[in-house]
Amino acid sequence: ARLSVRDALGAQNTNGERVKVQGWIRSVRSQKDILFLHINDGSALESLQVVADSSFDSRELAFGSSVEVQGQLVKSPSKKQNVELKAEKIEVVGNCDAKDSGFVHIHTPIITSNDCEGAGELFQVEPSSKIKVPEENFFNVPAFLTVSGQLHLEVMSGAFTQVFTFGPTFRAENSQSRRHLAEFYMVEAEISFVESLQDLMQVMEGLFKTATTIVLSNCPEDVDLCHKFIAPGQKDRLGHMLKNNFVIISYTEAIEILKQSSQNFTFTPEWGVDLYTEHEKYLVKHCGNIPVFVINYPLALKPFYMRDNEDGPQHTVAAVDLLVPGVGELFGGSLREERYHFLEQRLARLGLTEAYQWYLDLRRFGSVPHGGFGMGFERYLQCILGIDNIKDVIPFPRFTHSCVL
Ligand code: 4AD
Ligand code: MG
Repeated sequence: ARLSVRDALGAQNTNGERVKVQGWIRSVRSQKDILFLHINDGSALESLQVVADSSFDSRELAFGSSVEVQGQLVKSPSKKQNVELKAEKIEVVGNCDAKDSGFVHIHTPIITSNDCEGAGELFQVEPSSKIKVPEENFFNVPAFLTVSGQLHLEVMSGAFTQVFTFGPTFRAENSQSRRHLAEFYMVEAEISFVESLQDLMQVMEGLFKTATTIVLSNCPEDVDLCHKFIAPGQKDRLGHMLKNNFVIISYTEAIEILKQSSQNFTFTPEWGVDLYTEHEKYLVKHCGNIPVFVINYPLALKPFYMRDNEDGPQHTVAAVDLLVPGVGELFGGSLREERYHFLEQRLARLGLTEAYQWYLDLRRFGSVPHGGFGMGFERYLQCILGIDNIKDVIPFPRFTHSCVL
């Protein structure tokens, strides 16, 4: 018999009656050998739980897809619902590719003349001394390995609205930390017409949760192996992150929280000073081991392109960092300063007006509110696999003194 979700939920006869239910997938949760789907067709407020074994292809069964499920209605062992549908056949009527949210993939250059983050952590690129270059300089101006594809993405977001890139980035950070590499990969996204950090954070949280759900369901053996030997209990910790809404606090609130535990830290937390790794990890624990967005940092701590909040003496910018358990900062992002005069003044103060004429032009001709973010890929692997040192997530990590003849 074909039943609506409402009829299925209210069914009295749960002795294995064979039924067919159609609807849209509201959530997917995959465990070792079992897959839980919640489907709804609009006939009830609650969704119907569908239980499927591992023979079903979980990649097809994505959030938002429409499905037709045939199986047996049985009494649910869980207290949360009376009945559940034991799936024998699931047919995807219309799929909903969660990754395809309309972002155009852009290849941004690896060699560039700009220092997007303004931190001066650049590797300069020059031809080897054996090459004879007619002019003084191969690229006319000093050129470097890119620290971020953001500025080029901003150009392209003015043509395609939503764009992303995934590629290698380089930082001459003289650091021996457990989360810094000289060469790492970054996923970066840039979105036109974004007017609030809320909208941006929704995309960031969605990316983290969707990517993690896909990794967990597509590569369970690899993930389980890492968890078993390196991070027992990590799967439950990830489940906890996926289930909960990420926390949002301002930089000012973060400093207040940290100040109450000053004695725990090597570096004293203070308004106007950047957060150290120990601070970031503490904040995540404090918020229940759920990822935490920290927003609105002091202007003085952040790069020139971030949007001025015009909030008086404190003077913050619309920046957002996402801190995750075990790692600390995983994403960095912001609304961009799209107002010509604000940006012009910021660049002038930094002596960068001439170098960034092309970037200023983007604000002169058809400027729109926009924003974006970058997620460090190796740090992402650290976070989901539970690996303490970034040098252990890739085969050939590059850091200070790591190259030998
Ligand atoms: O916070 P960052 O510096 O932000 C940017 O580069 C922006 N332009 C991104 C954007 O808005 N399009 O870097 C982004 C992320 C960090 O949160 C961190 O995960 C990672 O890149 N990252 C590193 N990962 C490994 N080693 C390093 N040295 C890293 N530096 C940054
Ligand atoms: Mg950052």
